[in-house]
This record gives sequence, structure tokens and C-alpha cells, in this order.
Amino acid sequence: MSFCSLGIINPLQSMQVYCQNEPACSCCSKTDIKLQVCSKCQFAKYCNTDCQKKHWPVHKKVCQAWMPIGILVKKSLSKSNSIFPLIISQASSRLTKVTPLLTELFNQKVQGEKWALDLGCGYGASTMHLLQLGWKVIALEKNPKAIAEIQNSNQAYLKTNQLIVINRNIQDYDYSKKVSLVVITDVISYIDPKLIRGIWEKIYGVLEDDGHLIGSIFSKGGVAQEALESQGAWLLNSQEEVESILDSEQAYKKLVCRRRPKRDKSCVVEFHLQKQVSSPYKEK
Ligand SMILES: C[S@@+](CC[C@H](N)C(=O)[O-])C[C@H]1O[C@@H](n2cnc3c(N)ncnc32)[C@H](O)[C@@H]1O
Ligand SMILES: [Zn+2]
Ligand SMILES: [Zn+2]
Repeated sequence: MSFCSLGIINPLQSMQVYCQNEPACSCCSKTDIKLQVCSKCQFAKYCNTDCQKKHWPVHKKVCQAWMPIGILVKKSLSKSNSIFPLIISQASSRLTKVTPLLTELFNQKVQGEKWALDLGCGYGASTMHLLQLGWKVIALEKNPKAIAEIQNSNQAYLKTNQLIVINRNIQDYDYSKKVSLVVITDVISYIDPKLIRGIWEKIYGVLEDDGHLIGSIFSKGGVAQEALESQGAWLLNSQEEVESILDSEQAYKKLVCRRRPKRDKSCVVEFHLQKQVSSPYKEK
């Protein structure tokens, strides 16, 4: 499926971001042939083994960093009835708390027009925190019940266009409106692993230079592990695996990466990244 054919509001604006995901050979950029996917990361695509070999010195580092996701992709592909999309991946209570990292870092009123994108916002705890600080927020969530509730309790913000609410899947959003902050907390691990790298690229594309990314990914070892797994979320093996993905393309400055502070060891590895202006995101 071509990403460029998805519902794009302004094709000219969003073309660049979307077409990064066009199926093209990662080495020679050919598009009109059958491509094979790298068996390790399950993301890079090649026309043939020649192209794959030629590209390896460039691809190696990123490939290794993303291999844990590649393993999850293989696992979910090998199951006859894939567990994705998940049934239980909706915020269960409306009283979700704002992730500590967001309240620690963003606690002052903003000047001028600042846009944030809250991906998988649930019942809108982070969205509301940011609105109160004067941010303009695009809140995106797939659960219509949560969306209705956010709309009901934020009429004033909606009227002034300080808040835009979108009932959609993260993978189907057009990512055309640039923002200076993306929030994606406790969401990534509920999404089909084969979509993650593509979403990761779109997030990079939607951020302004020096823009911030606050998010979290679940990892094994914490007390909530079983509960999360029974909900169908995937967990990386360690905080190191999360860090390796965060560092993979030298696309961001890594400002914080820690287990979410709790009484017990937490499964949630939360991170704060800042987009690097000068660094080349793509491997080439
Ligand atoms: C555990 S809640 C987290 C909510 C909020 N981000 C927070 O930190 O409190 C996960 C949310 O992600 C949403 N979600 C999961 N997969 C999604 C997808 N592919 N697109 C949009 N929302 C998604 C669920 O409906 C749910 O509301
Ligand atoms: Zn090729
Ligand atoms: Zn690879």
C-alpha cells in the first residue's frame, strides 16, 4: 500500500514525509520491482542481494539498532492469526495521569503560537496539561469514546481552535502540520511492530527543527510486565534496547531516558529527545 495515497490534506506539504515510506530499494531507490525485506530489521528493502551487500556498510548500524523490533515483526508474522491489531488497546479509565516527564519538563506558560501533537492521547490528560499552559494541541486517538469525552469537556478550546481533535489511527494520520512537540506516551507498544519504524520516520518529519519528542516504550523487567503482555502489548527486552532505537540514526539529542519513577521497578521507559537540525536522518 502506498502511503502517498492515504488521506492527505495537502499533498505538496506532506509528500516528502510520506514518500520516505514508498517501497523503494534502500540502496538504489528503484521502485518498480519486487523488493525483498532485510531479514534482520524487517524494514530496509532491496531489489536483490547485490543491492543489499552494497548497502550493508551504511545500513549495518541502524539495522542492528532496530533488530529487536525486527524480531517482534517476525514473531507476529509467524503467528497464523496475528495478534495485531489488538482488541484490548484502549485506555481503560478516564483518569489517566499525565506522564511525570511531561509535567517535569513542561510546566511554564508558552509565549506565541506553539503546536503540540498528542498521539494516542487517550482521555487527554497530557493534552489538557498542555492546553492549560497555552499550547495549541492536535489530539489524536483511535477510541471514539475517549474522543467524545475530550470534545465534551473542552468546548472552549475547540471554539478558539486551540484544540484540534482527530479520531484516527496513528498510522493513518497525514503528519502535514509541523509541530514543536510530539507526545506519544504508553502507546507505541500497542501498535503492530511492523508499523513502528514508519511511524518513527513520520514523527521525525512532523517535528520542527529543535522540536521535542516525549514518549515511552514498555520494556521487560518491571512489575507490570504480565499485565501489559496480557493486554497484547509488546515489550522490548531491556532499557538498552529502547536506547539503541532512540540513538539509531543520530536524528535526536537524547536528553532523558529512564524508567518511569515509581515505587517498584517500572516497565515504562520514558524518554525526552530533541530533533537534531544538522544530522542526516536517512542512512544515505
Ligand atoms: C495506555 S493509553 C495511553 C493514553 C495517553 N497517551 C497517556 O499517556 O495517558 C493508550 C492509548 O493509545 C490508543 N491507541 C492505541 N493504538 C493506537 C493507534 N494505532 N492509533 C491511535 N491510538 C491508538 C488507545 O486507544 C489508548 O487510548
Ligand atoms: Zn536496488
Ligand atoms: Zn536491516
